[in-house]
Amino acid sequence: MHRPSGAADPATDRLAAAIGRAGLTGITAKQLAASTDLPSDQVEEGLERLVAERAIARHGRGLWALSRFSSDHPASPAFRGPAWFVGEFEREFALRVAQVPTKIQFAPNEKLPVHRWWPYVQGFSAGFVEEVCRKYGAGPGATVLDPFCGSGTVPTTARRLGARGIGADLMPIAAFVARAKGTWEVDPAAFGSHVDRVLRRRGVSRIAPPFLRETARQFDPAVLRSLLRLKENVWATPEGPVRLLLQLVFASILVDSSHLKRAPCLGYTTKAGLDATTPFRLFRARARAVGQDLELLQRDRGTWGPPPEIHLESFAAVSLPEGSVDLAVTSPPYVNGMDYVMNYKIDLAWMDFVRSYDELARLRGTMVACDNIPRSVAAHHRPSPAVRDDPWVASVTREIERNVRSKGSYRRSDMAAVVAKYFDDLVPVTRAVFRALRPGARFVVVNGDSLIAGTYVPGDLIFARLATQAGFEVEAFEVVRDRRSGQRRGFRLRESVLTLRKPLRAG
Ligand SMILES: C[S@@+](CC[C@H](N)C(=O)[O-])C[C@H]1O[C@@H](n2cnc3c(N)ncnc32)[C@H](O)[C@@H]1O
Repeated sequence: MHRPSGAADPATDRLAAAIGRAGLTGITAKQLAASTDLPSDQVEEGLERLVAERAIARHGRGLWALSRFSSDHPASPAFRGPAWFVGEFEREFALRVAQVPTKIQFAPNEKLPVHRWWPYVQGFSAGFVEEVCRKYGAGPGATVLDPFCGSGTVPTTARRLGARGIGADLMPIAAFVARAKGTWEVDPAAFGSHVDRVLRRRGVSRIAPPFLRETARQFDPAVLRSLLRLKENVWATPEGPVRLLLQLVFASILVDSSHLKRAPCLGYTTKAGLDATTPFRLFRARARAVGQDLELLQRDRGTWGPPPEIHLESFAAVSLPEGSVDLAVTSPPYVNGMDYVMNYKIDLAWMDFVRSYDELARLRGTMVACDNIPRSVAAHHRPSPAVRDDPWVASVTREIERNVRSKGSYRRSDMAAVVAKYFDDLVPVTRAVFRALRPGARFVVVNGDSLIAGTYVPGDLIFARLATQAGFEVEAFEVVRDRRSGQRRGFRLRESVLTLRKPLRAG
């Protein structure tokens, strides 16, 4: 152990070495006395000296650890965790952060008409979106926007409430699903006949499997043959709304026909009973659900809003008339969250949205940064003044950099740049939403925080701070759910709902 300063003192050096060996767990004064054979008064004296040199810090009850460990340990006084940031945020914005348990996850959607057409673990609950729309009066005639629309929970719900839904997403499978889930004009009987035709033709298909190297591991050979047959039959349907829905059904059975599951990341699992009939059986069942939902929807056809407008691009590039949106609701990717491209590559490849690994990498480079973005993308990123000048971004990125350096073996040495880029990717979208909203309208954002290389990153609160730079007022911040950190067991993260408001009069 290298002591930063002070005259040579063998007893103190022995203590420092023992504390170093205890690592992250830390060690008590009593244990130190036992392991170093030093009398307790000499231990106390040495500890005092090491504290004065800032070489060690107390963490937890009576435990001592090297400062480089303790500053990133939640039990250490040097660690800035959720409570510190929430307290500062409450003071800065003169509001109380309330705990309001709310069901915001996708799970209940799996039983709901339309939303059940394509389970999207990262989506939020249609019930929550409906509640927000009702709360802010976004009914017939209103325009509701989701700038990260994923599977289209917001635009679909808006349409059901009579409003006009607008969505944007950069991931082609998400934009496709959002578009298909808003396609309700199809006659259920005609749809049923197409489903029968698709299921009738069996035998070997002429089309090739997707480019993914792991296809043979993902699917049993017989299942793969059936999927290719089904794909050829579906793609043979004339272009139009029926084909869109048949393709959606096809996309929805891919993971269930494979040895994969999403929990929430895509991974291998053991499944019994997969055979050549599985894809046909799953397709029939899912298509039946779509047909039933179309019938149900068409009973109150007069109440729908217009078909949603879905953009396959960043919302920052979508040009809507200024002040034309009445409500925006979204859930952006969380800081250090999911690599959407990796998790949906099977869908992207099978649906022909992406045809090579190069295309997958290019797509990943355009999405909001996650910790899988190419190193060159992070290296070329220059933070914008808004992000660079935010003291919270500066402090968390500095700490990440320090921790990564001291750990020596973190999976990415450029993690601080990835985090800065993540915030920078959100800024132009936030500005575009601000411009599109009418004065007085709300922007409701479901978001979360994270623990990155031992640094607590309040992604949701930082998002709120950056949004105020775009002109928004912070109206409310509610914690709706606890999450567990994947990095440190027992460390509680949160999911939150932030309500922003565009002021009635500009600044
Ligand atoms: C949490 S999900 C949204 C889920 C959505 N609320 C739903 O209910 O399905 C975040 C979405 O952001 C998308 N995304 C990531 N980077 C993006 C970007 N730069 N522009 C637009 N969308 C992006 C992802 O593809 C993903 O679908």
